[in-house]
Amino acid sequence: MKQLIINGNKELTGEIKISGAKNSVVALIPAAILSDEEVTLYNVPNISDTNALIDIIELLNGKVDYKNETMKIDTSKIENKVVPEALSKKLRASYYFMGALLSKFKYAEIYFPGGCNIGSRPIDFHINGFKKLGAEVTIEGNKYIFKANKLKGARIYLDFASVGATINIMLAAVKAEGTTYISNAAKEPEIVNIATLLNNMGAKITGAGTSEIKIEGVKKLGKGVVDVIPDRIEAGTYTIIGALLGKKLKISGIIEDHIDALLSKLKEMGVPMEVNNGELIISKPEEYKAINVKTLVFPGFATDLGQPMSVLLTQANGMSIFEETIYENRMGHIKYLQKMGANIRVNDRTAIIVGKTSLTGEEVTATDLRAGAAMVIAGLIAKGTTIVNEIDHILRGYENIVEKLTGAGAKISIKDTE
Ligand code: EPU
Repeated sequence: MKQLIINGNKELTGEIKISGAKNSVVALIPAAILSDEEVTLYNVPNISDTNALIDIIELLNGKVDYKNETMKIDTSKIENKVVPEALSKKLRASYYFMGALLSKFKYAEIYFPGGCNIGSRPIDFHINGFKKLGAEVTIEGNKYIFKANKLKGARIYLDFASVGATINIMLAAVKAEGTTYISNAAKEPEIVNIATLLNNMGAKITGAGTSEIKIEGVKKLGKGVVDVIPDRIEAGTYTIIGALLGKKLKISGIIEDHIDALLSKLKEMGVPMEVNNGELIISKPEEYKAINVKTLVFPGFATDLGQPMSVLLTQANGMSIFEETIYENRMGHIKYLQKMGANIRVNDRTAIIVGKTSLTGEEVTATDLRAGAAMVIAGLIAKGTTIVNEIDHILRGYENIVEKLTGAGAKISIKDTE
């Protein structure tokens, strides 16, 4: 068991460099098995989700060479095997092997995925998409079995613009006979990143990044190369930290358009910042205006930044409202913020936050990845010492979080309690 120990209230300055995006790389690695040759990914973050996916690729007899942020995946000898439950459960993104294995072998056996406990998170849109492409789906307990004589292009409408379903259907359709159209597709930047790799491997995908994606099936996919895009959620998390503690803190390696909704909310609160050529310089203002934040699909305010943002709202003068619309259960961190001194009332998926309240260090728990990020932020602004438990959630998604924050002047360390 590991804990984070944070001594709060330290001004942050210098530079924090953003890593490659977790939610891209977790789909790019499974996408690589569609190649009959070698796939190279640059800017790969060293987080535990990446390592869990390497384990799955190696189980399937792929070869992975991962050093200095570059990952080469040789998939020429990939075999179809059941991905065991213990591995699938390690992360949400194991579900991308459903689409990828089905596409490559017309058969896949895989268990229901893991991931953060932030709601019921069904995968019915993925399954319906696979069925439309011609797959037969059987469920045995927690295990899904996908079988198809051949996959045929289809018109697939998503009831909700799901990131996971859009990517999984792209993976399953890329080698199908004929053309697939996904309407009401998710538009998140990660989807463009996956389509870029697949097209580089020889796929014919257009419209990624819009709500209508067209996939013309191809027979073969070969060598492929792509840069993992910068992690917009990591960038957003450090930007929020900069708004609370920054003195000309530089956040580098960002794509401004990917965090536009956050930057516009911070401007509304009165946070001084400048963005130039992928670098953001941010400082703490004298005071913050209270605002309302509602999470939405891209380009709306990212659900993954709602919990970190709620900590900033405890420092605004007056009443702010944080409303989560994507998941049922994004309020796991609130009881710990209350324990630290925040004035927050929760009603279902809405939190009413009244500030400004000063926070005091306490022992708290990371109930999920972004709740964990919220706890780190709260610890960084609290008086005294904060202990964050169950930090494995945080390490799934934030590369070198201790080193990055320490480098900017924070007092934070990891303690092994075993
Ligand atoms: N949904 C369904 N049925 C489906 C699929 C989704 O009802 O078949 C619902 C979900 O229950 C949820 C909503 O649709 O209420 C959105 O889910 P989506 O499929 O878009 O999310 P996801 O693909 O499971 C990815 C990220 C999440 C991020 C969301 C939204 C990965 C591995 N995960 O999840 O990231 O919150 O998109 O942007 O890419 C995180 O990084 O902390 C995280 C949770």
